[in-house]
Amino acid sequence: MSDVEQAQMPSTDDPRAEFRRLMGLFTTGVCVVAVETENAGIAAMTVNSLVSVSLEPRLVCWSLQNAASQFDIYNAAQRFSISILGEGQADLARRYAGRGDTLLQSGDFAKSAQGLPVISGALGHLECCRWSEFLAGDHTMIFGEVIGLSDLAGSSPAAVASVAPLAFFDGQFCAIQSS
Ligand SMILES: Cc1cc2nc3c(=O)[nH]c(=O)nc-3n(C[C@H](O)[C@H](O)[C@H](O)COP(=O)(O)O)c2cc1C
Repeated sequence: MSDVEQAQMPSTDDPRAEFRRLMGLFTTGVCVVAVETENAGIAAMTVNSLVSVSLEPRLVCWSLQNAASQFDIYNAAQRFSISILGEGQADLARRYAGRGDTLLQSGDFAKSAQGLPVISGALGHLECCRWSEFLAGDHTMIFGEVIGLSDLAGSSPAAVASVAPLAFFDGQFCAIQSS
């Protein structure tokens, strides 16, 4: 068998499952996107689709399932926060991957400088103004311009070395060991 054949993924009848499994091999960080809802409540969702897009202006993007029960809330939000989770926050990530806002715990959140709900104890927070959106298949890409940011460790290299991210690989939460 050639190296190329050996490298092929086992095929399935479902190309979506195959694509999903392969993309699961691409390790990502884990974030929580949070918005303030009309009645001053909070909606929050675990996502791993965060992309850093542009430096000038500072843009990020994440993708929102069109079928999500709270699609309208996130799609309409003019401002949102993104909290980058640390390795001890897998339970929190699981909670905000649950359906809708049924598992929302207000004690998980603090207010950012811009007044947005952010996850307490996360590695870092981005505060964003909606910049644009783009329908892409069964997801909508939500672009945000960064209007504020804060990080737990600050700019000290020693402090940064002491924190570890929560990662997502092959459908599981995991920690990344630094060398
Ligand atoms: C690690 C992880 C990453 C996720 N990333 C995304 C994402 O990027 N975009 C998204 O719309 N949903 C994502 N989800 C799913 C949402 O967290 C949540 O489960 C879903 O929006 C709930 O939809 P529902 O209220 O319709 O059940 C992710 C879930 C997990 C566990």
